Amino acid sequence: MWIAKTKAELRARLDVGSRPVVLVPTMGALHEGHASLISMAREKAGAKGIVIVSLFVNPIQFDRAGDLAAYPRPLETDLVVCETRGADGVFVPDAGEMYFPDRSITITENSLSEHLCGATRAGHFDGVCTVVLKLFLLTNCDAAVFGEKDFQQLAVIRRMVRDLDLRTEIIPHPTMRESDGLAMSSRNARLTPEHRADAPRIRRALLAAAGESDAATILRTAGEIIGQSHFARIDYLSLVDAETLTPTKSLEKPAVLACAVFYGEVRLIDHIAVTADA
Ligand code: PAF
Repeated sequence: MWIAKTKAELRARLDVGSRPVVLVPTMGALHEGHASLISMAREKAGAKGIVIVSLFVNPIQFDRAGDLAAYPRPLETDLVVCETRGADGVFVPDAGEMYFPDRSITITENSLSEHLCGATRAGHFDGVCTVVLKLFLLTNCDAAVFGEKDFQQLAVIRRMVRDLDLRTEIIPHPTMRESDGLAMSSRNARLTPEHRADAPRIRRALLAAAGESDAATILRTAGEIIGQSHFARIDYLSLVDAETLTPTKSLEKPAVLACAVFYGEVRLIDHIAVTADA
Protein backbone atom coordinates (compact mmCIF):
# COMPACT_ATOMS: atom_id res chain seq x y z
CA MET A 1 0.00 0.00 0.00
CA TRP A 2 1.41 3.39 -0.95
CA ILE A 3 1.17 6.57 1.07
CA ALA A 4 0.96 9.98 -0.62
CA LYS A 5 1.48 13.09 1.48
CA THR A 6 1.32 15.62 -1.33
CA LYS A 7 -1.05 16.28 -4.20
CA ALA A 8 1.80 15.71 -6.67
CA GLU A 9 2.57 12.27 -5.18
CA LEU A 10 -1.12 11.39 -5.29
CA ARG A 11 -1.45 12.40 -8.94
CA ALA A 12 1.66 10.42 -9.85
CA ARG A 13 0.29 7.32 -8.10
CA LEU A 14 -3.03 7.68 -9.94
CA ASP A 15 -1.47 8.03 -13.37
CA VAL A 16 -2.30 4.39 -14.14
CA GLY A 17 -4.62 4.41 -17.15
CA SER A 18 -8.28 3.56 -16.98
CA ARG A 19 -8.55 1.59 -13.74
CA PRO A 20 -11.62 2.55 -11.68
CA VAL A 21 -10.84 4.62 -8.58
CA VAL A 22 -12.97 4.33 -5.44
CA LEU A 23 -12.37 6.85 -2.67
CA VAL A 24 -13.13 6.55 1.04
CA PRO A 25 -12.85 10.07 2.48
CA THR A 26 -12.15 10.03 6.24
CA MET A 27 -10.66 12.16 8.97
CA GLY A 28 -8.76 9.15 10.33
CA ALA A 29 -9.15 7.64 13.82
CA LEU A 30 -10.58 4.70 11.93
CA HIS A 31 -12.98 2.33 13.67
CA GLU A 32 -14.88 -0.72 12.47
CA GLY A 33 -17.39 1.57 10.72
CA HIS A 34 -14.64 3.06 8.54
CA ALA A 35 -13.13 -0.38 8.02
CA SER A 36 -16.46 -1.53 6.54
CA LEU A 37 -16.46 1.46 4.19
CA ILE A 38 -13.02 0.44 2.94
CA SER A 39 -14.17 -3.17 2.45
CA MET A 40 -17.18 -1.91 0.50
CA ALA A 41 -14.90 0.26 -1.64
CA ARG A 42 -12.67 -2.76 -2.27
CA GLU A 43 -15.66 -4.78 -3.42
CA LYS A 44 -16.87 -1.95 -5.65
CA ALA A 45 -13.42 -1.37 -7.20
CA GLY A 46 -12.86 -5.07 -7.90
CA ALA A 47 -9.43 -6.62 -8.32
CA LYS A 48 -8.36 -4.17 -11.04
CA GLY A 49 -9.64 -0.99 -9.39
CA ILE A 50 -7.84 1.31 -7.00
CA VAL A 51 -9.11 1.99 -3.49
CA ILE A 52 -7.85 5.20 -1.90
CA VAL A 53 -8.49 6.24 1.69
CA SER A 54 -7.95 9.89 2.56
CA LEU A 55 -6.92 10.60 6.16
CA PHE A 56 -7.28 14.32 6.70
CA VAL A 57 -8.61 16.16 9.74
CA ASN A 58 -10.17 18.98 7.75
CA PRO A 59 -9.71 22.18 9.80
CA ILE A 60 -12.26 24.22 7.86
CA GLN A 61 -15.21 22.01 8.86
CA PHE A 62 -14.68 22.45 12.61
CA ASP A 63 -16.63 25.17 14.38
CA ARG A 64 -14.88 24.72 17.74
CA ALA A 65 -11.10 25.02 18.01
CA GLY A 66 -11.09 22.64 20.99
CA ASP A 67 -12.85 19.94 18.99
CA LEU A 68 -10.27 20.24 16.19
CA ALA A 69 -7.35 20.14 18.63
CA ALA A 70 -8.77 17.12 20.47
CA TYR A 71 -9.60 15.15 17.32
CA PRO A 72 -7.61 11.88 17.57
CA ARG A 73 -4.88 11.26 14.97
CA PRO A 74 -3.59 7.69 15.43
CA LEU A 75 -1.85 7.47 12.04
CA GLU A 76 0.02 4.19 12.57
CA THR A 77 -3.09 2.20 13.54
CA ASP A 78 -5.09 3.90 10.76
CA LEU A 79 -2.55 2.71 8.20
CA VAL A 80 -2.88 -0.86 9.50
CA VAL A 81 -6.69 -0.70 9.13
CA CYS A 82 -6.36 0.64 5.57
CA GLU A 83 -3.88 -2.05 4.56
CA THR A 84 -5.80 -4.87 6.24
CA ARG A 85 -9.05 -3.90 4.51
CA GLY A 86 -7.45 -3.80 1.10
CA ALA A 87 -6.74 -0.13 0.35
CA ASP A 88 -4.20 0.36 -2.43
CA GLY A 89 -3.18 3.82 -1.34
CA VAL A 90 -3.62 6.37 1.40
CA PHE A 91 -3.63 10.14 0.96
CA VAL A 92 -2.41 11.91 4.12
CA PRO A 93 -1.95 15.59 3.36
CA ASP A 94 -1.40 18.24 5.99
CA ALA A 95 -3.50 21.40 6.13
CA GLY A 96 -0.83 23.45 4.34
CA GLU A 97 -0.85 20.97 1.46
CA MET A 98 -4.63 21.15 1.09
CA TYR A 99 -5.23 24.85 1.57
CA PHE A 100 -3.42 27.94 0.34
CA PRO A 101 -3.16 30.56 3.10
CA ASP A 102 -5.09 33.03 0.92
CA ARG A 103 -7.65 30.56 -0.42
CA SER A 104 -10.81 32.39 -1.41
CA ILE A 105 -13.17 29.79 -2.88
CA THR A 106 -15.66 27.87 -0.74
CA ILE A 107 -18.42 25.51 -1.82
CA THR A 108 -21.72 26.33 -0.13
CA GLU A 109 -24.87 24.24 -0.18
CA ASN A 110 -27.71 26.60 0.63
CA SER A 111 -30.71 24.48 1.51
CA LEU A 112 -30.17 21.09 3.18
CA SER A 113 -27.32 22.57 5.22
CA GLU A 114 -29.54 25.09 6.97
CA HIS A 115 -31.04 22.51 9.33
CA LEU A 116 -29.84 20.04 11.98
CA CYS A 117 -26.03 20.10 12.28
CA GLY A 118 -25.81 23.00 9.84
CA ALA A 119 -27.96 25.17 12.09
CA THR A 120 -25.73 24.72 15.13
CA ARG A 121 -22.30 24.32 13.45
CA ALA A 122 -21.61 27.49 11.47
CA GLY A 123 -19.71 26.80 8.24
CA HIS A 124 -19.47 23.06 8.87
CA PHE A 125 -20.99 21.93 5.57
CA ASP A 126 -19.08 24.58 3.60
CA GLY A 127 -15.95 22.94 4.95
CA VAL A 128 -17.20 19.44 4.17
CA CYS A 129 -18.30 20.30 0.61
CA THR A 130 -15.09 22.16 -0.14
CA VAL A 131 -12.79 19.37 1.01
CA VAL A 132 -14.88 16.60 -0.56
CA LEU A 133 -14.96 18.37 -3.92
CA LYS A 134 -11.17 18.87 -3.71
CA LEU A 135 -10.71 15.16 -2.91
CA PHE A 136 -12.98 14.14 -5.80
CA LEU A 137 -11.00 16.36 -8.18
CA LEU A 138 -7.60 15.29 -6.86
CA THR A 139 -8.39 11.58 -7.14
CA ASN A 140 -10.74 11.85 -10.16
CA CYS A 141 -12.63 9.06 -8.42
CA ASP A 142 -15.37 7.08 -10.13
CA ALA A 143 -17.10 6.38 -6.82
CA ALA A 144 -16.84 7.35 -3.16
CA VAL A 145 -18.20 5.60 -0.08
CA PHE A 146 -19.85 7.53 2.78
CA GLY A 147 -21.43 6.29 6.00
CA GLU A 148 -25.17 6.77 6.48
CA LYS A 149 -24.53 7.73 10.11
CA ASP A 150 -23.77 11.26 8.89
CA PHE A 151 -27.06 11.31 7.02
CA GLN A 152 -27.18 15.08 6.54
CA GLN A 153 -23.61 15.04 5.21
CA LEU A 154 -24.60 12.29 2.77
CA ALA A 155 -27.63 14.31 1.60
CA VAL A 156 -25.53 17.46 1.15
CA ILE A 157 -22.83 15.62 -0.79
CA ARG A 158 -25.41 13.97 -3.04
CA ARG A 159 -26.88 17.43 -3.69
CA MET A 160 -23.42 18.80 -4.53
CA VAL A 161 -22.82 15.93 -6.97
CA ARG A 162 -26.22 16.52 -8.57
CA ASP A 163 -26.00 20.30 -8.81
CA LEU A 164 -22.38 20.45 -9.98
CA ASP A 165 -22.71 17.52 -12.41
CA LEU A 166 -19.86 15.65 -10.77
CA ARG A 167 -19.05 12.26 -12.23
CA THR A 168 -18.49 10.51 -8.89
CA GLU A 169 -21.04 7.88 -7.86
CA ILE A 170 -21.93 8.17 -4.17
CA ILE A 171 -22.17 4.82 -2.39
CA PRO A 172 -23.87 4.85 1.03
CA HIS A 173 -22.89 2.40 3.76
CA PRO A 174 -25.28 1.54 6.64
CA THR A 175 -24.48 2.90 10.10
CA MET A 176 -22.31 0.53 12.13
CA ARG A 177 -23.15 0.19 15.82
CA GLU A 178 -21.48 -1.08 18.95
CA SER A 179 -23.21 -4.09 20.58
CA ASP A 180 -25.09 -1.72 22.93
CA GLY A 181 -26.48 0.28 19.99
CA LEU A 182 -24.20 3.33 20.14
CA ALA A 183 -23.39 4.48 16.60
CA MET A 184 -19.70 4.00 15.87
CA SER A 185 -17.82 7.30 15.78
CA SER A 186 -14.23 8.43 16.17
CA ARG A 187 -15.53 10.70 18.92
CA ASN A 188 -16.65 7.74 21.09
CA ALA A 189 -13.02 7.22 22.14
CA ARG A 190 -13.11 10.64 23.82
CA LEU A 191 -16.07 9.80 26.09
CA THR A 192 -15.35 9.28 29.80
CA PRO A 193 -16.32 5.79 31.09
CA GLU A 194 -19.51 7.27 32.68
CA HIS A 195 -20.46 9.05 29.48
CA ARG A 196 -19.71 5.99 27.35
CA ALA A 197 -21.96 3.87 29.60
CA ASP A 198 -24.78 6.43 29.29
CA ALA A 199 -24.52 7.23 25.57
CA PRO A 200 -26.46 4.16 24.23
CA ARG A 201 -29.56 5.91 25.58
CA ILE A 202 -29.45 8.00 22.39
CA ARG A 203 -30.25 4.94 20.30
CA ARG A 204 -32.80 3.69 22.86
CA ALA A 205 -34.53 7.08 22.75
CA LEU A 206 -34.69 7.13 18.96
CA LEU A 207 -36.00 3.55 18.79
CA ALA A 208 -38.68 4.21 21.40
CA ALA A 209 -39.73 7.47 19.72
CA ALA A 210 -39.89 5.93 16.24
CA GLY A 211 -42.56 3.55 17.53
CA GLU A 212 -44.91 6.48 18.27
CA SER A 213 -47.43 7.63 15.70
CA ASP A 214 -47.49 11.44 15.86
CA ALA A 215 -44.76 14.05 15.62
CA ALA A 216 -45.31 15.66 19.02
CA THR A 217 -45.17 12.31 20.88
CA ILE A 218 -42.14 11.24 18.89
CA LEU A 219 -40.20 14.35 19.91
CA ARG A 220 -41.44 14.22 23.52
CA THR A 221 -40.55 10.53 23.93
CA ALA A 222 -37.00 10.94 22.62
CA GLY A 223 -36.50 14.17 24.57
CA GLU A 224 -37.61 12.59 27.82
CA ILE A 225 -35.35 9.53 27.51
CA ILE A 226 -32.29 11.60 26.66
CA GLY A 227 -33.29 14.24 29.22
CA GLN A 228 -33.28 11.63 32.02
CA SER A 229 -29.50 11.38 31.67
CA HIS A 230 -27.33 13.13 34.27
CA PHE A 231 -24.73 13.80 31.57
CA ALA A 232 -26.37 14.30 28.17
CA ARG A 233 -27.14 17.77 26.84
CA ILE A 234 -29.27 17.95 23.71
CA ASP A 235 -27.83 20.20 20.99
CA TYR A 236 -30.81 19.52 18.74
CA LEU A 237 -33.56 16.94 18.47
CA SER A 238 -35.60 17.35 15.33
CA LEU A 239 -38.09 15.54 13.16
CA VAL A 240 -37.40 16.45 9.54
CA ASP A 241 -38.66 15.65 6.07
CA ALA A 242 -36.31 12.92 4.80
CA GLU A 243 -35.84 14.67 1.46
CA THR A 244 -35.67 18.39 2.24
CA LEU A 245 -34.45 18.07 5.87
CA THR A 246 -36.91 20.82 6.87
CA PRO A 247 -38.66 20.34 10.23
CA THR A 248 -41.99 18.57 9.86
CA LYS A 249 -44.99 17.87 12.05
CA SER A 250 -46.45 15.36 9.64
CA LEU A 251 -45.66 11.72 8.97
CA GLU A 252 -47.37 11.69 5.61
CA LYS A 253 -44.00 11.74 3.88
CA PRO A 254 -40.88 9.80 4.98
CA ALA A 255 -39.34 11.57 7.95
CA VAL A 256 -36.15 11.27 9.99
CA LEU A 257 -35.75 11.85 13.71
CA ALA A 258 -32.24 13.22 14.18
CA CYS A 259 -30.30 14.45 17.16
CA ALA A 260 -26.96 15.77 18.32
CA VAL A 261 -26.13 15.27 21.98
CA PHE A 262 -23.20 16.62 23.97
CA TYR A 263 -21.45 14.52 26.59
CA GLY A 264 -19.10 17.09 28.06
CA GLU A 265 -17.25 18.48 25.04
CA VAL A 266 -17.98 15.42 22.90
CA ARG A 267 -20.83 15.83 20.44
CA LEU A 268 -22.53 12.65 19.18
CA ILE A 269 -25.09 12.42 16.37
CA ASP A 270 -27.61 9.74 15.44
CA HIS A 271 -30.90 9.43 13.56
CA ILE A 272 -33.68 7.03 12.71
CA ALA A 273 -36.20 6.80 9.88
CA VAL A 274 -39.78 7.37 11.01
CA THR A 275 -42.81 6.14 9.10
CA ALA A 276 -46.53 6.64 9.67
CA ASP A 277 -47.20 2.92 10.10
CA ALA A 278 -44.56 2.43 12.85
O1 PAF B 1 -17.25 12.27 7.50
C1 PAF B 1 -16.08 12.69 7.61
O2 PAF B 1 -15.21 12.01 8.18
C2 PAF B 1 -15.71 14.04 7.03
O3 PAF B 1 -16.75 14.94 7.15
C3 PAF B 1 -15.24 13.95 5.56
C4 PAF B 1 -16.35 13.47 4.63
C5 PAF B 1 -14.06 13.01 5.45
C6 PAF B 1 -14.80 15.33 5.07
O4 PAF B 1 -13.74 15.82 5.84
